[in-house]
Amino acid sequence: MRGIPVRQIPISLPTADETRAFGRACGRVVQPGTVLALSGRLGAGKTTFVEGLAQGLASSEEVSSPTFALAACYAGGRLPLYHLDLYRLGEAVKQEVDWLDEYLYSDGVAAVEWAELLGALLPADRLDVYLEDEGGAGRMAYVAALGRAASTVLEAWMQLWR
Ligand SMILES: Nc1ncnc2c1ncn2[C@@H]1O[C@H](COP(=O)(O)OP(=O)(O)OP(=O)(O)O)[C@@H](O)[C@H]1O
Ligand SMILES: [Mg+2]
Repeated sequence: MRGIPVRQIPISLPTADETRAFGRACGRVVQPGTVLALSGRLGAGKTTFVEGLAQGLASSEEVSSPTFALAACYAGGRLPLYHLDLYRLGEAVKQEVDWLDEYLYSDGVAAVEWAELLGALLPADRLDVYLEDEGGAGRMAYVAALGRAASTVLEAWMQLWR
């Protein structure tokens, strides 16, 4: 079966602060169960985006680059934020779905770095955020909503983002 083509929205992010602001806008509109699948090469800005996301959720906790094991939880905001980084798991990620699913299907918000490693094991209803380092200064983000709940969040997010 062929998938329905998904519209990707391109967003220009000239500075790291803009990446953070873009994440912050997202944090203001995410809903219980929202999943953000973040992809892009090393250093593309995924963690920077999650820093903003936590700010938008009004979490007082500081986001660190996940030198933590694999998952960090930030409480204290409008919704709990689960920050996952699958990089170290690599292909082994497919054996870890049992505990990963607890974060991916939760009443909080999940932000997953290196989400592409999960492939088809990702929740069907999610926001895909692909970050691209264009070589020079700045980044491009390509955002797409897969599923009904994600579409509602994306609409609110884009209204907030000038
Ligand atoms: N829009 C942007 N323009 C320029 N630099 C940016 C932008 N967004 C983030 N950066 C910078 O890119 C660097 C890497 O960012 P970050 O750690 O968020 O990437 P990452 O995708 O999480 O990397 P990793 O793959 O190692 O997890 C940081 O120095 C950050 O400040
Ligand atoms: Mg990172």
